[in-house]
Amino acid sequence: MANKPVLFYGIEAMAAAGITEVGIIVAPETGSEIRQAVGDGSEFGVEITYVDQAEPLGLAHALLTAEAFLREEPFVMYLGDNLLRHGIVRLVDTFKADKPDALILLTPVADPQNYGVAELTDGRVSRLVEKPADPATDLALVGVYMFTAAVFEAARSIGPSGRGELEITDAIQAMVDSGARVDPHIVHGWWKDTGRVQDMLEANRLILDEVSERLEGEVIDSQVEGRVVVEAGARVERSTIRGPAVIGAGARITDAFIGPYTAIGKEVTIDRAELEHSIVLEGSTVRDLEYRVEASLIGRNVQIGRGPTVPKAYRFVVGDNSEIAIL
Ligand code: G1P
Repeated sequence: MANKPVLFYGIEAMAAAGITEVGIIVAPETGSEIRQAVGDGSEFGVEITYVDQAEPLGLAHALLTAEAFLREEPFVMYLGDNLLRHGIVRLVDTFKADKPDALILLTPVADPQNYGVAELTDGRVSRLVEKPADPATDLALVGVYMFTAAVFEAARSIGPSGRGELEITDAIQAMVDSGARVDPHIVHGWWKDTGRVQDMLEANRLILDEVSERLEGEVIDSQVEGRVVVEAGARVERSTIRGPAVIGAGARITDAFIGPYTAIGKEVTIDRAELEHSIVLEGSTVRDLEYRVEASLIGRNVQIGRGPTVPKAYRFVVGDNSEIAIL
């Protein structure tokens, strides 16, 4: 998102709220990449402990995996793919001041069936259901929760859901059922769960909407319009950059158009091509395209360009779960 891993925004939000000890629960497949990217947390002003979750058995299971790290202390559970525009400073303060057993964040959404959904009675949480087919309200559970150690017993009391997971939503319902105090807080300002590509592009757009102009790289014979960041070491030549957009360090943009809501990563080359509303990650190259690229997510070290004219054929080397749309 705007040239920064989504997880970093979450860690920064916690650090800003005065949290100094952060445990990151990692899966075997992605743990080493996360460890490498985040390190010991000193860059963020926090101390990071990694907790291995051997199998993806649900958020309540993840929580139980981290019980030894969390001990008896109240804590924030922040889902690594969630972004909250206003951060969590006020929420942590409210949680500390009001001392409920749990504080949950809710926000109205158009597609509540894709989230945990809450029902309130007289301003109190009365019922929570994970991804209901027929939602009773449009109030989705945001993936940021504040808990006391009372949540562990609740998490131990539930069984797996239809998707075979121990749901955090069910654990919170168990807290409600046992008479614990679960306070709701309605989130204003945007919230994004960036689990899907469209959501990532949208989150990228929302973050870019708030960048301020900063031109530290070289801009030669080019037009830079609106709020654009060109990082030091980047070079833009004979091109138009129309913000909001960011161009990462070491990127080379030549004879190109970079349109609004585009994040060009570090060491990316864009040559004789046009892109907008897209994310291009580190080390990739896009060159010689006849038509504009839009609403695209391009990973790391990807090469997109024109092949030899003969034979007239498409040539793809594409990773898992990819999607290509040809004109
Ligand atoms: C999870 C929770 C869900 C919550 C959502 C927020 O969903 O189970 O209750 O609304 O995060 O991002 P999942 O990402 O596991 O589908």
